[in-house]
Amino acid sequence: MTDLNTLAANAPKAELHLHIEGSFEPELMFEIARRNDVNLPFKSVEDIRAAYDFSNLQEFLDIYYQGMSVLLLEQDFYDLTWAYLTRAAADHVIHTEIFFDPQGHTERGVAFADVVGGISRALGDAKDKLGISSKLIMCFLRHLSEEEALATWDEAQPHLSLIDGVGLDSSEVGHPPSKFKKVFAKARAAGLHLVAHAGEEGPPSYIWEALDDLCIERVDHGNRALEDQALVKRLADEGLCLTVCPLSNLKLCVIDDMKNHPIKVMLDAGLKPNINSDDPSYFGGYVNDNFLALINALPLSRTDIEVLLRNGFEGSFMDESDKAEALHRLQNYIKNTG
Ligand code: HPA
Ligand code: ZN
Repeated sequence: MTDLNTLAANAPKAELHLHIEGSFEPELMFEIARRNDVNLPFKSVEDIRAAYDFSNLQEFLDIYYQGMSVLLLEQDFYDLTWAYLTRAAADHVIHTEIFFDPQGHTERGVAFADVVGGISRALGDAKDKLGISSKLIMCFLRHLSEEEALATWDEAQPHLSLIDGVGLDSSEVGHPPSKFKKVFAKARAAGLHLVAHAGEEGPPSYIWEALDDLCIERVDHGNRALEDQALVKRLADEGLCLTVCPLSNLKLCVIDDMKNHPIKVMLDAGLKPNINSDDPSYFGGYVNDNFLALINALPLSRTDIEVLLRNGFEGSFMDESDKAEALHRLQNYIKNTG
C-alpha cells in the first residue's frame, strides 16, 4: 500500500495559488541583483532566509516587495518564472495558474510589457519543454486605490491576450473587495476569469463581498469562511474552489499549529479546497511540501488526498477538454497506485 505522502507527491497535480514573485529564491535574487547592479539590504542568502520570520501578512509583504525590487528586465521575469516552473515540474505539477503583481513593478518604472512578456515567454517554454500548461492572473494590490487599479487595467489592454484572469492581493484588512467593484466589472465584461484573496486575515463579510460585488469564481485562502455557516453553505452549494495554502497559513500565523489546520473541517463541510504553495520561497516549501505538512499533522484519509488532488483540476480555468484529460490522467494514476 502506497503511503499517503508518496501518493500525493507523485500525483499529477494543478497549482492554483502561486504568486510568481513569491517564488523568488534568495540565490536567484542575489544573482539578479548583482547583474542589475542593485543593492539588497542583506549580506548573504542565510541573512535573507533568517529574515523570513513573520507574525502576520503585513510583515511578510514588506519583505516580499523589497525582494521583488531587483527585478528590472524582461529576462529577469523570464528567469524568475522558469525557476518556479522547473521546480514545479519536480513536484509533478502539470497545470499552474500564476499570479503576478504588475503594480509592484510598474510603480518602480519597469515596463508592463517586460513583466508580462518575460513571464509569458517562460510559460510558453514550460508548455513545450516541461509539459506544464498554465493560466496567468493579474492581481491588483488592494492597499492601493481603485483609481490605480483602473490605470493598471488600462495599461494591460495591449496585453490582454496573455492574461486569463484578474485577482486581488496584498494587505487585506481595511481593504474590502467592494473597493474594487468597478475594475472587476471591467475585467468581467472583457471575459476574464475573476478571483480574490479573501478570508485570509479579513472577516467572512469580505468573502461575501468578493462573491456578490466582484462575482469571483474561486476564493483564494477563504479560511475564515468557516466562521459563518450561511457562507459555508453558499460556497458548498455553488461548488466554489478554495485555494488553500497550508505552509503560508502557518508562516503568517493564520493558524498556530499545522495540527489545527482547517483542511479536514473544510472537506467535511462540503467545501472544495485544493492545496497550493502561495509564496514557496518565503513560506518554506513547494506544493508537495504543503501536502506533506498536512499529511504529517492531520488524520487525512486516502480519499481526502484524492479529493484535494481532483479539486485542483476541477477548480482550474482549463478548458473543458483539457480538464477532462487531466482528471482522467489523475484517475489512472490513482487506480494504478495501490
Ligand atoms: N496574501 C495576500 N497577498 C499576497 C500574498 C498572500 O498570501 N502573497 C503575495 N501577496
Ligand atoms: Zn496568495
